[in-house]
Amino acid sequence: SNKLPKYSMLKHASVEGSLPLLSAITQESLDSASSFEPEPGDVFVITYPKCGTTWMNNILYLMKNNGVTVEEGDNIANYFPFIELIGGEATKEKPRPRFIKSHLLFDILPQSSNAKYIHVARNPKDCVVSFYHHTVGYEQFYDWNDGKLDDYFEIFMAGGCDWGSYFEMVPRWYERSLKQDNILFLFYEDMIVDLRKEVLKVADFLGPSWKESLLRNNEEILDKVLENASFSAMKAKQKRYFYSPRPKDRPFLRKGAIGSWRDELSEEQSKLIDLKMAETAQKYPDFENVRV
Ligand code: A3P
Repeated sequence: SNKLPKYSMLKHASVEGSLPLLSAITQESLDSASSFEPEPGDVFVITYPKCGTTWMNNILYLMKNNGVTVEEGDNIANYFPFIELIGGEATKEKPRPRFIKSHLLFDILPQSSNAKYIHVARNPKDCVVSFYHHTVGYEQFYDWNDGKLDDYFEIFMAGGCDWGSYFEMVPRWYERSLKQDNILFLFYEDMIVDLRKEVLKVADFLGPSWKESLLRNNEEILDKVLENASFSAMKAKQKRYFYSPRPKDRPFLRKGAIGSWRDELSEEQSKLIDLKMAETAQKYPDFENVRV
């Protein structure tokens, strides 16, 4: 049917009912991910889908590789094992320091005070629009070729997109980030406004050796990181930033902007999100102060 993309409906002890996930994820890979044991030095990149995952992945890759972009024919995904997709066992074998990508809820993702977690959040209006464009025509993963934004919007609001509800996942990570200094919570919008400032936050969070290497030679490496993490630089090489081919008219690096939802969501849909955010702040009071 065109009404619903096809998902796996999986179980986890901390989730009521079942969790919709990308159809390529299995109960086995999810269970294996949730019993993974993080080690000191592990760095997780956590996002709700479409909130800046790949951008942060590229920033970390560039910081680690003297500002040099992943090579042609290679792919950023090779350096950021997607734990719920490949499972915890396969993640265990990856070279150290391990960078690990996940969209999982705080309560599902294995926690360790020795590991570091970088969360990137984005406003839900741009997120739902980006997520919608991500799914349409992406036949490897979504059986939803003629999907409509209005239908997708309803599914998103009901927490029915893959990885479940934005309005549970993002505030719960935010709440935890206020209590744990091994979680750095960043915003896509802040990265758009002042990427340098946010990259320096990442370096401070990862530790002195990261910061030193970023700032050496009169900030030469930092300059390269900023240049090669720009939207235009990434767009020019976008095959390197997505692990499977996208439909031609739906590129992965799409708008890369704040507020492009205005062209696509109705006034009513925008209000529904405002209302949902207000409700969310009642359940997660700390989230009240967040301007996503
Ligand atoms: P849009 O669809 O709004 O353009 P994810 O990696 O989590 O799937 O997120 C994808 C979104 O991040 C897309 O948003 C993409 O364009 C945006 N993005 C990726 N790299 C970016 C960059 N360097 N600058 C700004 N936005 C970027």
